[in-house]
Amino acid sequence: MTDLKNDRFLRALLKQPVDVTPVWMMRQAGRYLPEYRASRAKAGDFMSLCKNAEFACEVTLQPLDRFPQLDAAILFSDILTIPDAMGQGLYFETGEGPRFKKVVSTLADIEALPIPDPQKDLGYVMNAVSTIRRELNGRVPLIGFSGSPWTLATYMVEGGSSKDFRKTKAMLYDTPQAMHLLLDKLAQSVTSYLNGQILAGAQAVQIFDTWGGNLSSAAYQEFSLAYMRKIVSGLIREHEGRKVPVILFTKNGGLWLESIADAGADALGLDWTCDLGEARRRVGNKVALQGNMDPTVLYANPEAIRTEVKRILASYGKGSGHVFNLGHGITPEVKPEHAGAFISAVHEFSGQYHE
Ligand code: CP3
Repeated sequence: MTDLKNDRFLRALLKQPVDVTPVWMMRQAGRYLPEYRASRAKAGDFMSLCKNAEFACEVTLQPLDRFPQLDAAILFSDILTIPDAMGQGLYFETGEGPRFKKVVSTLADIEALPIPDPQKDLGYVMNAVSTIRRELNGRVPLIGFSGSPWTLATYMVEGGSSKDFRKTKAMLYDTPQAMHLLLDKLAQSVTSYLNGQILAGAQAVQIFDTWGGNLSSAAYQEFSLAYMRKIVSGLIREHEGRKVPVILFTKNGGLWLESIADAGADALGLDWTCDLGEARRRVGNKVALQGNMDPTVLYANPEAIRTEVKRILASYGKGSGHVFNLGHGITPEVKPEHAGAFISAVHEFSGQYHE
């Protein structure tokens, strides 16, 4: 049923042998691509791209058409679709990032939050997934995704992006039971949302815990990792006769790799602050690793980019279990040719690390 022409991304996540190291980029469909900017202008705004399956499919495929060596596609959407479906009223103010019309401040606000039904309330995402799967026609696997409960909670409580998470941290320490109720509702929502994506055709899923690394060690375990573990244990792990690998990405989570590796996922995403070889020794055989080039290396010249790719490949060393990626999303200012140099370097230099 799954007729994949290129499955090295899925194989590497399961530590099965590959010919070369697979590569994709977080935010690979985005503003650094002129064709993305043109589609967004046509759609009107970012959320109209996400809510229309044809547009979402068009921008998902753009980086693959430009860089045929990419080994995976990622659903074009946003992590904030869940809070939007819970009635928070998501909108984007140009140049200011995401905002919510309603903010979650009290226990009563949290008690009133519904758990979205993926088909009824997030049907546009399920449609995007099935449309993209059809159009990919087996070229590469499709990645579905969600935010982690903690990361989603920061946006819901702050009402948007934040530097210090003042309100969210105050809620966590003042009324931990209220925070736990919010995180529990989010974990239930994320589980059924990701399972919906898997049933619609996502062949791997990634949980973005962008702000987990901002917590203390103890708070990370209790308020972020515990809920990701709960989600992982509720996910569909096999579909269409193939394993559906799960990737956990806690940005700035390098100090906690051993415990994240114990959460039940198949792979961990790493940012650039940790050494890949050292991370591999620390997690042992438990999980595959994804990452971890500093995205700002893409501002440097192609020769410097190629040198950094070689260094990271050597640091992981021989054998499967590495998916090359950036340590966080590609930024709008990067020249597309530099992204191309990065992607081709991974295949060009990684053959020697595989049998
Ligand atoms: O990786 C991909 O290519 C898939 C698409 C994707 C987007 N957002 C598209 C997007 C994914 C996986 C995300 C995840 C996301 N969204 C995260 C977690 C990952 C991360 O980067 O840390 C977070 C925290 C968000 C919330 C969010 N969405 C913010 C803070 C912003 C504004 C950021 C900015 O650069 O202005 C968005 C908007 C957004 N999501 C854009 C894209 C392509 C830019 C929208 C535009 O075209 O103006």
